[in-house]
Amino acid sequence: MPERALTNYDLEKMMDTSDEWIYKRTGIKERHIAADNQVTSDLACEASKIALKRAGITADKLDMIIVGTCTPDMTLPATALHLQRKLGAGKSGCAAVDMNAACSGFLYSMSTANAYIKSGYAKTILVVGAELLTRIVNWDDRSTAVIFGDGAGAAILTQDSGSRGIMESELHADGDYAYLMIAPGNGTFRAPAGNYTKIHMEGHDTFKIAVRHLEDVSRSVLKKAGVRSEEINVVIPHQANVRIIEAVVKRLDIPIEKCVLTVDHHGNTAGASIPLALNEAVETGKISEGDMVLLNAFGAGITWGSMLVKW
Ligand SMILES: CC(C)(COP(=O)(O)OP(=O)(O)OC[C@H]1O[C@@H](n2cnc3c(N)ncnc32)[C@H](O)[C@@H]1OP(=O)(O)O)[C@@H](O)C(=O)NCCC(=O)NCCS
Repeated sequence: MPERALTNYDLEKMMDTSDEWIYKRTGIKERHIAADNQVTSDLACEASKIALKRAGITADKLDMIIVGTCTPDMTLPATALHLQRKLGAGKSGCAAVDMNAACSGFLYSMSTANAYIKSGYAKTILVVGAELLTRIVNWDDRSTAVIFGDGAGAAILTQDSGSRGIMESELHADGDYAYLMIAPGNGTFRAPAGNYTKIHMEGHDTFKIAVRHLEDVSRSVLKKAGVRSEEINVVIPHQANVRIIEAVVKRLDIPIEKCVLTVDHHGNTAGASIPLALNEAVETGKISEGDMVLLNAFGAGITWGSMLVKW
């Protein structure tokens, strides 16, 4: 996480909002904001260094780097290339690419890495979720400005994890809902005059669709894996809104106590939210070896997915 925290009380001084509204509607108390001289790959690099150290490998041993982000350093080259350079692994020649699936970016990246490993194409892959969303937030739009934050998390996937690892995963997208949440930025899209260049979201509709899809995809993954919801030890959901998380686990008959909740102190960090929550669960001992961990995410696109991991 970047050092600087921006609390709801700070936001009260910047726009017409209140700590009470933000906390009640989203569960967020504070989010972190990157320094002016930081870019997404800087956050990705910090997280990756920690992950590499914990995995006991050096960056030159990686076969591939995948960065799930919708806030890349620049249009090209991909953030994964900047990350590779910052990790000192440029000369290793390993493949490096970004995946933009918005808030589902980490799950898309993990599933892709899993497929590459299973096919035998790669043995060791660094998967990162990194975002600097506060740079594309419209600070004049209180309905979105209070939600997003910056951060990065990383994981190393290897071939030789025995009976542990990704048991099942499922990804989806529905481009018919592309305009539910957009950030045209410096893309080739030409917005009509007065239209948005920063994040714009139809929050209410997004909320309803998110709950339905997250429930369905989580059920589907559990069914395919032959695992019952009561066998889940820990749920690591994308941290968009605590009310979405509560609604989904209630429908799945999983007690909320099994969820890792970081949205209160991270806000919505899109593709970074799951690896950040995963890390917090590891560091606080909430996850133990052998646990069944259910991940799920929903984001702009719209994209959504779920994954079952035996830790
Ligand atoms: C964004 C979100 C928190 C807004 O909550 P909501 O309950 O839907 O609120 P609404 O947008 O309907 O707005 C309700 C009222 O609060 C007001 N409001 C919006 N933002 C506000 C803020 N920051 N402070 C105070 N009031 C605010 C609105 O103007 C509106 O006022 P009105 O009733 O007078 O018109 C919620 O819709 C959400 O979390 N959506 C899903 C986000 C998501 O999952 N995105 C997926 C990709 S990450």
